[in-house]
Amino acid sequence: MIAVIGGGICGLSIGWRLAQAGQSVTVFDRGSAGKEATWAAAGMLAPQVEVEHGEEMLLPLALESRGMWQGFASELLRETGVDVDYREEGTIVVANDRDDVEYLQHRMTYFETLQLDVKWLSGHEIRKKQPHISRSVSAGIYSVLDHQVDNRKVAQALKSAFMASGGILKEHTDVRGVKTVGGRVSAIELIDNEILVDVVVLAAGAWSRNISGLPNNSRPPVRPLKGQMVAVQMDPKAPLLENVVWGPGNGIVPSIYIAPKSNGRLLIGATVEEMGFDRNLTAGGVMELIRSAWDILPGIYDLPLVESWTGLRPASRDDAPILGPTKTPGLVMATGHHRNGILLAPITAKAITDYIVRGTMDIIFKPFSLDRFKEL
Ligand code: GLY
Repeated sequence: MIAVIGGGICGLSIGWRLAQAGQSVTVFDRGSAGKEATWAAAGMLAPQVEVEHGEEMLLPLALESRGMWQGFASELLRETGVDVDYREEGTIVVANDRDDVEYLQHRMTYFETLQLDVKWLSGHEIRKKQPHISRSVSAGIYSVLDHQVDNRKVAQALKSAFMASGGILKEHTDVRGVKTVGGRVSAIELIDNEILVDVVVLAAGAWSRNISGLPNNSRPPVRPLKGQMVAVQMDPKAPLLENVVWGPGNGIVPSIYIAPKSNGRLLIGATVEEMGFDRNLTAGGVMELIRSAWDILPGIYDLPLVESWTGLRPASRDDAPILGPTKTPGLVMATGHHRNGILLAPITAKAITDYIVRGTMDIIFKPFSLDRFKEL
């Protein structure tokens, strides 16, 4: 039996693929599946505009996963009837003042060295596409291949698809610990019993380090990285925006993003805060989000504020995911996805399923093993 600890987008996707492959698999979530970082995300599939210096190894993985998303979304629709709102309008990164334009020029040069498919736009060209963008926006980079989904609908679809494929979902079931016998995984501990298992997939997001019984050489260096977000409601028949837009932020919002969903919700995110497991929304966080978004899209001023929330991203020490086997036979990692959990879910599911079913992982995953960390 395979136990997946964590029913977020990665845990559910792995469970779904394993169940499709005929494996006996149970996903455990200590709350409701898909209601932590998966719920809190914005659903952006944007490996190009989000790539940072030093992430050149991650880029091929992220691009490949983005390429899998259209098929992943169609398969979920076919199997469950849930439309996950996969949208292909693309993403625009915008600049307001001269400093921002210079910064974007650097980004453009970097994107060109990586041979990414991006295009420079003037402020006028941006407003021709999206007329409600502020007149203060003077230039931008258009990344037509950076798409988006509705992450909450994906979670709903994955739960159905997983169970329809024969997987068992145990919600509100806290896995307290992992047991080993002779150095090999043997069981998981619940509050009142133990279950014998052959394999444990650790996909518990920001909580992945906190499971007791993990051998010291197999404890992933993952910590929570808080993000605050808000949503305003547009008229879905006359949306203010159709592209995902990124722009300059302020303080705890290093860069702002605005993601319009087809139901009219306009998501505005996100802060990036080292605050442990604190989940408070703060006046300062919400103020920076709304002010930075308003600089780009002044029309949000009159829209109803319909939701505000926080999420805890699972950040590894080098911001890249941790995938595959560990020094503890039977213990497999699928955690540490940082800001890329939604984007990387399809490829994570493929990697972990291939490893468990065939005992192999493609060379592309080699840089993401737990072994890369000298100290855990
Ligand atoms: N990927 C967006 C975020 O983590 O805020």
